[in-house]
Amino acid sequence: MNRPPLTGRAGMRLLLAALALLLPPAVLGESASSAPSRAKSLRTLLAAPAVPSRGPPAGGVPPRTHGLDRSPAAGFSELHVKRWQLKARSSRLVSLEPGCGRLSNRLASFSDGTRACLRYGINPDQVLGETLSFYLSRLLGIRNVPALALSRVNTNAEQWLGVRRDVQDSQWADKPIVSLSEWISNLSEVVTPPSLRTEGRTLYPSLEDLDGVTDREMVQWSDLILFDYVTANFDRLASNLLNLQWDPRVMERSTNNLHRTAKGALVFIDNEAGLVHGYRVLPMWDRYHESLLKTICIFRKETARKIAELHKSQNVAQQLLDLYRVNEPLASQMGFLSEEHAQMLQNRTDRLYEHILQCKAKYSK
Ligand SMILES: *[C@@H]1O[C@H](CO)[C@@H](O)[C@H](O)[C@H]1NC(C)=O
Ligand SMILES: *[C@@H]1O[C@H](CO)[C@@H](O)[C@H](O)[C@H]1NC(C)=O
Repeated sequence: MNRPPLTGRAGMRLLLAALALLLPPAVLGESASSAPSRAKSLRTLLAAPAVPSRGPPAGGVPPRTHGLDRSPAAGFSELHVKRWQLKARSSRLVSLEPGCGRLSNRLASFSDGTRACLRYGINPDQVLGETLSFYLSRLLGIRNVPALALSRVNTNAEQWLGVRRDVQDSQWADKPIVSLSEWISNLSEVVTPPSLRTEGRTLYPSLEDLDGVTDREMVQWSDLILFDYVTANFDRLASNLLNLQWDPRVMERSTNNLHRTAKGALVFIDNEAGLVHGYRVLPMWDRYHESLLKTICIFRKETARKIAELHKSQNVAQQLLDLYRVNEPLASQMGFLSEEHAQMLQNRTDRLYEHILQCKAKYSK
């Protein structure tokens, strides 16, 4: 297989230049009237002072430093997730219809009209990957993955009584554990922004096309790339890179398993390839994950902080397990990562940390 068509260093520089152009002067900590040169903007954006400067910035807007963006995470709040999980565990199901991807999955409706995507794993790793990916997103403070709860299918239990017939027709195994993910209405499709597309062998930030990409959106793409890297989920951008070999226009089409809410938050759906299956097939995909990682040198501050913390503590799998056990009553029945995969999770977290440090070192001169 060929090397992926990205050139890391040149591509990164181009992307950074594009990002600097994107940022309005006020965001860069300069007064709007001072018409900054491009070089100045880039330095301001990427400067990594040894000691964080204190005191209010001149323009009243906090300056951005070393490519860290302070915007709060877009997406689903802690409270929202807790409420949804409570509902998903206690409400009666009234219908299961075809939908939500695979033939074995269902679009489920609760008695109050809320809907959920029900995932039945033909292979149990799919539900495990989906579930652990969700909890890892919460551990990282990335809020773009819809809320998820596990449920054991049991047509004698109150929750499942109303859909007994549908379950009987489903050809599922006896009493499987399925995942219920919040179904979000009004999602639109998402095309990868030009600055993350590849053309030939270089990353090409086509500057005139960047108008529509906001700063807030760019850090969500950064979170997406970090998240898919650490979970080794190939079923989004990495598969696009692979497909580029025979479909040169793949980047102009909507991205698999990625949507946008009406308010502009990206929603990362369908994470079943993450962590378990993704780790198993890593040798085939890692070059694509690496190429994608190298396209970004801007990070949401909170995500970068969390990654540094998980690197220092060297116990990301333990923290993930704790979070999962506390919040998911079926955790002990569903299982967790193998020891080998737990170590891979730590290694990939460490790699993210190293990449963030490299970006700081490279652009702080
Ligand atoms: C869905 O989107 C349409 C058009 O964008 C809007 O009119 C409608 O209010 C939205 N519905 C919900 C539930 O957000
Ligand atoms: C994790 O990284 C260490 C150090 O690079 C390496 O020796 C080990 O084999 C890696 N483990 C896995 C499971 O990838």
